[in-house]
Amino acid sequence: MQLTVSQGNIAEQVTDCIVVNLFEGVTEPGGATGALNQVLDGAIQNLIASGDFTGKVGSTAVLYTNGKIPAARVLVVGLGKADKFDFQKARKAAAVAYKAVSKLKGVKQYATIVHGTGIGNLEATKAAQALAEGTLAAAYQAPNYKREKPENGPQQGTIVEFDAAKIAAIRTGVQTGQNMAAAIGHARDYINEPPNVLYPEELARRAQKLATEVGLQCNVLDEAAMRALGMNILLAVSSGSEREAQFIILEHAPAGTEQQQPIILVGKGVTFDTGGISIKPWDGMWLMKDDMGGAAAVLGAMEAIARLNVGRRVIGVAACVENMPDGKAFRPGDILTGITGKTAEILSTDAEGRLILADALGYVARYNPVAVVDLATLTGAIGVALGPHAAGLFTNNGNVQAKLMASADRTGERLWPMPMYDEYMDAIKSDIAEVKNSGGRTQGVATSAKFIEHFTEGYPWAHLDIASMVWTQSESEPTTPKGATGYGVRLLVDFVQTFDL
Ligand code: BES
Ligand code: MN
Ligand code: ZN
Repeated sequence: MQLTVSQGNIAEQVTDCIVVNLFEGVTEPGGATGALNQVLDGAIQNLIASGDFTGKVGSTAVLYTNGKIPAARVLVVGLGKADKFDFQKARKAAAVAYKAVSKLKGVKQYATIVHGTGIGNLEATKAAQALAEGTLAAAYQAPNYKREKPENGPQQGTIVEFDAAKIAAIRTGVQTGQNMAAAIGHARDYINEPPNVLYPEELARRAQKLATEVGLQCNVLDEAAMRALGMNILLAVSSGSEREAQFIILEHAPAGTEQQQPIILVGKGVTFDTGGISIKPWDGMWLMKDDMGGAAAVLGAMEAIARLNVGRRVIGVAACVENMPDGKAFRPGDILTGITGKTAEILSTDAEGRLILADALGYVARYNPVAVVDLATLTGAIGVALGPHAAGLFTNNGNVQAKLMASADRTGERLWPMPMYDEYMDAIKSDIAEVKNSGGRTQGVATSAKFIEHFTEGYPWAHLDIASMVWTQSESEPTTPKGATGYGVRLLVDFVQTFDL
């Protein structure tokens, strides 16, 4: 999908469809929508008067122009109440418009105004970013292995602004939106790819390629390097797989920040989780290709951080393994000692995410980080608690919590704080090791976070359990097609952009 910016009158555009907008409750449209209404002899006003279209968020209406302007169709998209309008609504409106235009027969290109710069009170750069981000998120297409490719929506969109003084700001915003969308699209790709295509080494190759393209430093530890470092808990999870584990480290350090204490983002990258010897039931197991959703979010965030030239040092780590049952696989009952020297007893080989995080979080202590945030598809239990509407936030640091909650609020990538009571530790005390990797049937979310906390020493840390957020079957959000959501990229980018320590 190509987006271009052009100065001119929207009504005069030679294209298949024109997109304008309407706030709820407006009876006499102004701005570009008003100008178009006049050229169309009051057609938009008639539409409003009919009561068929009220401008509600997410609603659309199509008008036919009868040769009065070059474009045959006009799509009006509702923006909701002007006083409730914000960046997220602008993003959503752009996605709704793209989806509606895609359903119109033979529309290959369209022109749109920027939503919300008038009475919506959005600054032009932000509004343009939202427009580009929302449109491109909706236009995303997952890797497809059918020999006959499914039909595409429009591949060309022109953003039209009449006020020449706003064009520069709009171009800047569109560029930011394109950068965000590229990163989110790649994060979705990593997750959507089948597990025989995307395994740890393939993800590492993609990370290397990405690093050269966007200007990140990339270092990948293979199994020999991890063994030398004593990362034997992570390696145990990988031991049943024919695929080599890979520990991907991406660093963004703009000139002058090389010595800065970094923010570190850590992602769980289980490219396929069978459960190992504690094998999962067959139905639904295919979806365990999304068990690298944390790693995908981290790689996506690092891509955006590099593309946007964020002015601080950030390190992204993806701990990648495949969890398989095999003669060489680790077992329930095993005792493992990892990079921190702390011991763990294995109760279930299916509680593998916390194990790879134990070594990943032990490893990153060497950077003296200002904050570490890990993202992991860690438990089914988080979905039972929160549904597909928020990720669980676990932390003992009030400052990091406040900053993450603020980012969640701004981006709409929701987080909900979960408790970290000391008592949860009782359930994962082991008789023969320092900690065990499962606390049994109850309190499954909190005990997983408690297990990880045990391996975080010397830095502020937060854990996001994103198991119920990385995948959607519903298409209920216009910005999110079926499959991988790309959850976490926008949240993390906002977090590092606004972090002020
Ligand atoms: N990858 C799963 C968690 C998961 C479940 C992610 C559903 C996405 C959707 C994780 O490795 C796992 O298997 N967790 C177990 C932990 C249990 C064995 C203590 C779980 O949640 O059942
Ligand atoms: Mn598992
Ligand atoms: Zn898992």
